[in-house]
Amino acid sequence: DWTPDQFIETTITDLKQKLGNDQVVMALSGGVDSTVAAILVHKAIGKNLHCIFVDNGLLRKDEFTQVLESYKGMGLNIKGVDAKDKFYTALNGLTEPESKRKAIGKTFIDVFDEESHQIKDVKWLGQGTIYPDVIESAPVMGPSQTIKSHHNVGGLPEKMKLKIVEPLNTLFKDEVRLVGKTLGIDPTILGRHPFPGPGLGIRILGDINAEKVSVLQEVDAIFIGGLRKHGLYDKVWQAGAMLLPIQSVGVMGDERTYERVVALRAVSSIDGMTADWVHLPYEFLAEISNEIINKVKGVNRVVYDISSKPPATIEWE
Ligand code: XMP
Repeated sequence: DWTPDQFIETTITDLKQKLGNDQVVMALSGGVDSTVAAILVHKAIGKNLHCIFVDNGLLRKDEFTQVLESYKGMGLNIKGVDAKDKFYTALNGLTEPESKRKAIGKTFIDVFDEESHQIKDVKWLGQGTIYPDVIESAPVMGPSQTIKSHHNVGGLPEKMKLKIVEPLNTLFKDEVRLVGKTLGIDPTILGRHPFPGPGLGIRILGDINAEKVSVLQEVDAIFIGGLRKHGLYDKVWQAGAMLLPIQSVGVMGDERTYERVVALRAVSSIDGMTADWVHLPYEFLAEISNEIINKVKGVNRVVYDISSKPPATIEWE
């Protein structure tokens, strides 16, 4: 029978044997998979693992500093790279979802490539790929059937001529969480909702700029903070806010306003392939809506997404 302890033990032994004294580079995202994978590799090879955490300007509010701190706390050799402007420049004027994803993916590879070239003699690329990712990106589903292109797999290793090491590629998500727990990783990291690689970039519908990112970060922080405060965060599989590319008329005092609309989305799911919208309590939605409209300048309307997947996807882009 599979146990996390036994998995950890054999994986570390295998990694030691496979990697020897080689240098390994890994991009971390703050998510469960890349974190657990990095800790395993770190246990096997220590400082020969070089981690990189990129600020693509599309992260959640304060996420870059918080995640970087927690990685340092775990003893990882990690470098935070502020690449916000590179991403905003690459995204400038793009409105079509797939073009945006591709621009974000390409910029990420460029930044990561540049950073890894500064590591001497790097031979391996570590990745937090888990079993469902292996299946999802299998060639059975040809490019014409790609519903949304995910940028975290593929592209990188060929360009960088690196060998790949993926210690979690036989595990399902719940097993990864168990391994993480056994490794003593912070429960807030292990319990984090999934967050897409392109981040807020696919939650700001249409074109992106720093100002829109900051509006959405505030909205998202109120929503996610509220879920935590009310004990709802762990009952939801994934939640987030979308900034819509429209304005609507409102009234404040005796003034007419013409401002932004945000949509909140919370879903239940097992693996993200199908999902249902969560019936969040009306009182909670009322409180969050008021807080957003009162505190976030430029937003005068909040709506709640009541669509299931399929036919709607979880992300709006
Ligand atoms: P959709 O929107 O396709 O999302 O229903 C399913 C799950 O995948 C996440 N997602 C992504 N994750 N890169 C990622 O790493 C991506 O490009 C991407 N697009 C969607 C989404 O957040 C949800 O958990």
